[in-house]
Amino acid sequence: MALVMTEKLGTHEFAAVRADFPLLARNVRDGRPLVYLDSAATAQKPEVVIDAEQDFYLHHNAAVHRGAHQLAEEATELFERARESVAALVGADPGEIVWTGNATGAINVLAHAIGHASLGRGGAAAQRFALAPGDEVVVTGAEHHSNLIPWQELCARTGATLRWIPVSDEGRILTNRLEDIVTDRCRVLAFTHASNVTGAVTPVAPFVARAHDVGALTVLDACQSVPNLPVDLHALGVDFAVFSGHKMLGPTGVGALYGRRELLEALPPANYGGLMVEVVTMESATYSMPPQRFEAGTQMVAQAVGMGAAAEYLRELGMDAVAEHERGITGRLLGGIAELDGVRVIGPTTSDQRLAVVSFVVDGVHAHDVGQLLDDAGVAVRVGHHCAQPLHRRFGIAATARASASVYTNEADVDTFLEALGRVRGFFGVSDRTAVAR
Ligand code: ALA
Repeated sequence: MALVMTEKLGTHEFAAVRADFPLLARNVRDGRPLVYLDSAATAQKPEVVIDAEQDFYLHHNAAVHRGAHQLAEEATELFERARESVAALVGADPGEIVWTGNATGAINVLAHAIGHASLGRGGAAAQRFALAPGDEVVVTGAEHHSNLIPWQELCARTGATLRWIPVSDEGRILTNRLEDIVTDRCRVLAFTHASNVTGAVTPVAPFVARAHDVGALTVLDACQSVPNLPVDLHALGVDFAVFSGHKMLGPTGVGALYGRRELLEALPPANYGGLMVEVVTMESATYSMPPQRFEAGTQMVAQAVGMGAAAEYLRELGMDAVAEHERGITGRLLGGIAELDGVRVIGPTTSDQRLAVVSFVVDGVHAHDVGQLLDDAGVAVRVGHHCAQPLHRRFGIAATARASASVYTNEADVDTFLEALGRVRGFFGVSDRTAVAR
């Protein structure tokens, strides 16, 4: 394979982009240069994100939306400006972005709020969310646990039934099953925008169209798409969406729940406490307008500011350019793996409608052993079920190794990975003859 080095990411020099991520310069395992291919689990951070958090703590730290002093004013302004930046990245209005601890937290906020509506909380307006026996929540077989278990629990609490749309042998959600599985009993249709295992990108339009036909709410898990693709939530037409800061080059401890404004206004709170209230007596309370209604307690202000910086960084790179870079890396990963004997990709094998999230099995070698040998070569990948046990079970396997890229990944990273992966079977003494026996 020709060694063509990435020179540009959109209008930016690629070398300068890569240099924005200080951690990538470090060595691991016996002084080997780090090859970081675990960005789907968490991405590395550009200096602007680290600086934004540090600057907040060094110069502006205060609780937001309370306090009459200058620091409180500055902190509140930075916090709300970060909300604007995140909203602009995903094609939303700032008032439609609720800060949460991460994407998992965001789905739980939504599921709890729907659960509260199902108990009759939130008044007449909230009844549109209420679930009862006979209603259905539909997910897909491609979900990671975070977009499955909160719905399982919500169904258990409300008596609703959970159904799911299966995935194809290629790891794509079977959109041709939408009509028979998403019926007029469906109240919530929750689906991933891009699988964290197969990398397959979901065509959102047929899901939204079917949900509209049957009067269901749509919930998009955009954890993997927001860091790597242009995402315009208004244009996609989903009702709710979730994503994490740490996967989109931002800090850990912060994520977002997007909700269409009129829906957030009708939804009851998920958590209760300070900051999300208007009038409180010893007997009862009235609640703020969204997004504050869903942000009980002192917020993760520095992390939100860091997530805002990450959103600005991605916007400056240009999400079309980011997606183009991702396509190039995907092609190189898939092309290189295709040349290796005994390595099978779990997911689409072409870069069409697919992210550089490539899970694979090596015949005759356990994923953890694959991961260890790659680690010895300085290559960081994730091994295991990637918090998606049902999807692995669908393919009859317990674990895969997964290489995943980001804006800073270059061809040399991919080639080091492929070279090490090519040595795995030889190292473990597995030939095509012995693979089946192991
Ligand atoms: N979504 C996280 C990952 O894929 C859990 O690593």
